[in-house]
Amino acid sequence: MSDIDDFKALCKVAGVSIEAISDISVLSEQVRAGTLIIPNSLAIHPMEGADGDFEGRPGELTCRRYKRFAAGGAGLIWVEAIAMVPEGRANPRQLWLHEGSLDAFAEMVAMMRQAATESMGPDHKPVIVAQLTHSGRYSKPDGIAKPLIGQRDPYRDPLMPEARPTTDRESKVDDHCIMTDEYLDDLQQAYVKGAGLAFKAGFDAVDIKSCHGYLVNELLAGRDRKGRYGGSFKNRTRFMLEIIDKIHVTLGMDRVVTTRLGFYDGIPYPYGWGVDKQDYTRCDLTEPKKLLKELNDRDVRLINFTIANPYYNPHLGRPFNQPVKGGYAEPEDPLRGVQRLIDIAGQVQREFPELALVGTGYSRLGYRMGHVAAATKASGRARVIGVGRMAFAYPDYAKDLLIRGTLDKNKVCVGCSGCSQLLRNGQPVGCVVRDNKVYGLK
Ligand SMILES: Cc1cc2nc3c(=O)[nH]c(=O)nc-3n(C[C@H](O)[C@H](O)[C@H](O)COP(=O)(O)O)c2cc1C
Repeated sequence: MSDIDDFKALCKVAGVSIEAISDISVLSEQVRAGTLIIPNSLAIHPMEGADGDFEGRPGELTCRRYKRFAAGGAGLIWVEAIAMVPEGRANPRQLWLHEGSLDAFAEMVAMMRQAATESMGPDHKPVIVAQLTHSGRYSKPDGIAKPLIGQRDPYRDPLMPEARPTTDRESKVDDHCIMTDEYLDDLQQAYVKGAGLAFKAGFDAVDIKSCHGYLVNELLAGRDRKGRYGGSFKNRTRFMLEIIDKIHVTLGMDRVVTTRLGFYDGIPYPYGWGVDKQDYTRCDLTEPKKLLKELNDRDVRLINFTIANPYYNPHLGRPFNQPVKGGYAEPEDPLRGVQRLIDIAGQVQREFPELALVGTGYSRLGYRMGHVAAATKASGRARVIGVGRMAFAYPDYAKDLLIRGTLDKNKVCVGCSGCSQLLRNGQPVGCVVRDNKVYGLK
């Protein structure tokens, strides 16, 4: 039985329909995204490593990871979440870009460019993106949760004691963890400054991270929030759009801004973004598409597609085999999750063909991912195909697909959630199965 027949049989058992084709040559195609030229159609998603130093500089393991990614041949390398302010770090080892860490970032980017050329030849120039972030309700700058939230949320607050409202002796509710408008005004400036530093460090583009329940994503669903950043669609999208405008005004229109955008939170309305009002298990893309039009007007041509929240409903965004400790078991066949990710991205890409959309959901497909990636790209449902966990396991997956035309079964991601567990434990993150001389769970 061929790999494709074998995959079709698996899909039949799972009751899903995911296209796969044998000719994967389409993945070698260059992709133009505005002024950026991505040398092939394969990407590595941003994946936090929790291995910087306490000052936010990339550490030895950070550099090892990105050197391997760069040598691995992907045309687009999306560097992980980098904090813009210290209180917005998700852990004490999260990367943090400021004047004191700039040189270390610049060295890392230069090292990546050299590794890419040495491995793939002088014409291979991967696009390298910096993901700018504030962890919002998931901030843990000193290893202890110090949430900064947009509004009260009956679904997410209970999962985090520190975010629950407390009352003082006079029974006044203590809402100190809700960010003020003044805090957000200042934070916009911090993003603009951070973007300037990222370009100085040599990144090709900056991503205003707007997904996975972190600060910007939370604001998108801040319907209960009062003031300039909550309530109406205009106010909820203000934080992100004004940052983009300010970057362009301050640093120049030629500075490329992109976003990793969550299109569907999977959290009941009105607390979820992109959800059907009556049935939160279904998406409603009306508002995310309205936001895409705003982004398009601002010349944002590269969008990294994602959905859901790793703390609330991880199976939606990263279908797995085994959960993290204390997590829930996969409630559905992981292939169903993969199909959902491909389908939703496809709806968006087909309606916005001028965008280069980076698709997701492919790690769970293991060694068959190239065939599905090629079918998705060939049918216009994503112009770039990205992997996250697969890159930890198999940093040169792209090189093997592009040059050998196939993946090694013994190198692929097995969906064990070991990397997610390392992140939860606050340990440096990598693949505990394929890179187990370096990474192991405590
Ligand atoms: C350990 C770990 C760290 C992650 N860090 C980030 C991050 O920094 N930024 C981000 O946007 N997504 C992050 N993600 C999500 C991935 O980019 C990706 O969306 C997810 O793993 C699904 O893709 P996959 O099925 O190919 O792994 C992380 C995921 C994991 C497992």
